[in-house]
Amino acid sequence: MSGRIPQDFINNLIERVDICQIIDARVKLKRSGQNFLGLCPFHDEKTPSFSVSQEKQFYHCFSCKNSGTVLTFLMEYEGLDFVAAVESLASIAGVEVPREQLGKAAQARDKKQQQTHKRLFDVLDEASSYFQRMLRQPEQAQAAVDYLKARGLSGLIARDFAIGYAPAGWDGLLKGLEKTPPAVLVEAGLAVTSEKGRTYDRFRDRIMFPIRDVRGRVIAFGGRVMGDEQPKYMNSPELPIFHKGRELYGLYEARRAVRKLNSFLIVEGYMDVVALAQSGIANSVATLGTATSAEHLEKLYRYAGELVCCFDGDRAGRAAAWKALELSLPLLREGRSLKFIFLPDGEDPDSLVRKIGKKEFLNRVSQAMPGIEYLFQRLTEDLDLNAIDGRARLAELGLPMIEQVPDGVLKQLMLQRLADLTQLDVFGSALGRSTMGQDGPDLRRHEHVEDEPYIEYKPSKISKDLLSRLLKYPHFIEGVPVEVREII
Ligand code: CTP
Ligand code: MN
Repeated sequence: MSGRIPQDFINNLIERVDICQIIDARVKLKRSGQNFLGLCPFHDEKTPSFSVSQEKQFYHCFSCKNSGTVLTFLMEYEGLDFVAAVESLASIAGVEVPREQLGKAAQARDKKQQQTHKRLFDVLDEASSYFQRMLRQPEQAQAAVDYLKARGLSGLIARDFAIGYAPAGWDGLLKGLEKTPPAVLVEAGLAVTSEKGRTYDRFRDRIMFPIRDVRGRVIAFGGRVMGDEQPKYMNSPELPIFHKGRELYGLYEARRAVRKLNSFLIVEGYMDVVALAQSGIANSVATLGTATSAEHLEKLYRYAGELVCCFDGDRAGRAAAWKALELSLPLLREGRSLKFIFLPDGEDPDSLVRKIGKKEFLNRVSQAMPGIEYLFQRLTEDLDLNAIDGRARLAELGLPMIEQVPDGVLKQLMLQRLADLTQLDVFGSALGRSTMGQDGPDLRRHEHVEDEPYIEYKPSKISKDLLSRLLKYPHFIEGVPVEVREII
């Protein structure tokens, strides 16, 4: 497995296989002239706009603009990383994947890393089986079973999520996995060695939630106490195969339960994911006690175009929403959205879905606030848009954010919205020219600013930022009211 895959091999492979055949096995295609046409698997649609060209060995969706080679198709459709997609394609073509020879040192390093990963996957898998077995031990696990029942979880859902129980005591796992050297359990974050050199189980008397990667391999655990002890949750430490800020609890389970995911609900807790699944809402995922990261969002967008964050309605929840929105901007494009629902005081998705039921919960999700709405709402909430400096402030706050959105219709619409709100008609044209070439759409809507009532302009309020933007986008000046132009 070591070494790079030669680029030549990848190119040949893409040429050798028939993109239409491979896509057709996953998405029904019909011939349409030179090309093949079908319903786009990357966004929801009723009329086909997904076109596959045999000649060019390329696919393209006219609606969501997703496009690429058979390799990118497999990556996006099957959720594979690059190497896994090459391997999958090679196996379809019936060929072995060759590897370039690495230097001796690199080869040794590579091999060692793979051995480490395998050791960790194996021991975590064994531990997960052990914890699940323990949950079925009537004498030891009665309290755990009662706890799960009291929280309304069925045996079926516990099985789907491979929920287990780490027994009380110090060496349940150490003894249960007696063939595994304690040092390996320590390496995998399952046991801890004290300063005095004693090794003991990390997770004791806790409900165990295995965290699985997209391929279903256990990469870590979260363990919850059943009472009020602290800490309520204990998680595996960072491991070579587990990076908290990248992983999402429930992603594997959601993908397994829903064949074609259109959207994800992003929630905060393990129990939220499990309770939603129990009530029939199988597409939720949780960050692992960390803030939502760009990596999380990117990962989810590989499988679904709509992400709905379910956050608390309090200040912390709103701050988390704003942060997620900021992170999402560079990732947005047609067919991708980020939305928000804010939960009533004191509720989390777990408690809410139990209270109002699946139907009403989904009803709220369907009314989630689009991120773009939220962006303009938050930006304008403390501004007086009747005042010129309020509008200038909006421009200087909004433009740097919108600039992060990749060029395309979505960005143009946001610029147009900004233009409408600020009554400056410059954003579409200035950026349109800078990003879409001379032929880009000219979104100027207000023809004559001269008609506007004269508003006294206070030079002290003009911001450095507005000026620096003028330097960057000289076209900007066209939409700046005359009276302001005179001052600057
Ligand atoms: N969390 C954590 N460590 C803690 C507390 C919380 O890792 N000490 C993470 C867990 O992933 C947890 C999430 O943050 O699921 C949300 O925490 P919280 O809202 O406190 O818990 P709930 O998921 O609501 O758990 P429960 O309903 O069981 O109390
Ligand atoms: Mn909760």
